[in-house]
Amino acid sequence: MYQAARGTSDILPGEQPYWRYVEQVITDITRLYGYQRIDTPIFEDTSLFRRSAGEYTDIVQKEMYTFDDRGGNSLTLKPEGTPAVCRAYIQHGLHNLPQPVKLYYISPIFRYDRPQAGRYRQHFQFGCEAIGDDDPALDAEVIDIAWRFYSGLGLKKISLYLNSIGCKECRPEYLSALKKYYAGHASSLCSDCKTRLEKNPLRLLDCKQPSCQPVADSAPRSADHLCARCLEHFTQLQKYLEILGIPFSVNPRLVRGLDYYTRTVFEIQPEEEGGQSTIGGGGRYDDLIEELGGKPTPAIGFATGIERIILNLKKQNVAIPEPPGLKALVAYLGERARDEAFKLTAGLRRAGISAVMTTGGKSLKAQLRQANSLGVPYAVIIGEDEVKAGTATLRYMADARQETLPIGELPARLRAIE
Ligand code: HAM
Repeated sequence: MYQAARGTSDILPGEQPYWRYVEQVITDITRLYGYQRIDTPIFEDTSLFRRSAGEYTDIVQKEMYTFDDRGGNSLTLKPEGTPAVCRAYIQHGLHNLPQPVKLYYISPIFRYDRPQAGRYRQHFQFGCEAIGDDDPALDAEVIDIAWRFYSGLGLKKISLYLNSIGCKECRPEYLSALKKYYAGHASSLCSDCKTRLEKNPLRLLDCKQPSCQPVADSAPRSADHLCARCLEHFTQLQKYLEILGIPFSVNPRLVRGLDYYTRTVFEIQPEEEGGQSTIGGGGRYDDLIEELGGKPTPAIGFATGIERIILNLKKQNVAIPEPPGLKALVAYLGERARDEAFKLTAGLRRAGISAVMTTGGKSLKAQLRQANSLGVPYAVIIGEDEVKAGTATLRYMADARQETLPIGELPARLRAIE
């Protein structure tokens, strides 16, 4: 028997109310903050993602779904949303619009990860990008969107972690301090960290191996090595977060898993979780657009995994709105009544009343059972007698009350009752 590919899942009808709910909150919040929707293709040139994330990141080294198409071009299924949005910004000359340009997306994302709860090979992200300004007010705005989004969904007890990893002016000095420090502890590092020391020293701080923790905890901190402008930016951002009333902790080990970040990086986690729990994260990427061939264009963004949000909504027993159900089930008895039932069902739908008709000539009892299991509040019953009289029987499923009325009056009657 075929199964959905490992790390992917079907979203069955019973799960859909969660997705619609999350999408509704996304629509509301992005409208409130003036972000416009952008959709980009599922796949892009492989080099776009390589150049963006960085050659020595897990995403590029281990997680991309890369394939050659029949024309021999190397394509990759989107392993994150930011590079595609930057590519679109450059390609369509969005720098000609008033800056910053504020965009959001809901997109499937593909990562060849080890599947476990909250970690999938296909997941969906909601992301926001504010492109074209380096004002720390925008950093605060993007964090505010994330924060209000989670609280708007009804999630409680979340924590915001913040750091600044500097810019191309001050980062080199910090990296050499970091390398120097780690070189003195090289013998106690795990094998991955030995490679990171060579290839991607910032990621040393992110190592999860217990043996590397004491070394990472006492490592030099990027926030202590910021140039004057980065320090000013970081201080201003913290001031704005205080104005917004968003609590945060500065985490000097927060570096994120993508190489394009500059200055601000942040993550949001539910309080009672461990490793796999980050529900959202982002940061500034002031050099990426230039790196991809555009003009120098500062930007900041964030993204959040929708599956992880839904896991947390369920864990925290957040009540979600019930989607409106069907209003009527049309039941019939006998051949002639069937045509009337068919006509009536079509008429109800044309009048804007959601309705289904039973099929297969079942007994009345079976048809009413179906109405119950669908949770339909009203059944309309048409039998031979009703066909002759031009009437139908309206049954209130809650208390089995019934009334008979001319068939033509049913749409108005059903619209009038709740
Ligand atoms: P990211 O931290 O790699 O950032 O992913 C964002 C969110 O996607 C994570 O916080 C998590 O909720 C979810 N996520 C990531 N991987 C998985 C997975 N395998 N299964 C389920 N959920 C997952 C980015 O992708 C950046 N593009 C964010 C950004 C936007 N930075 C600036 N702008």
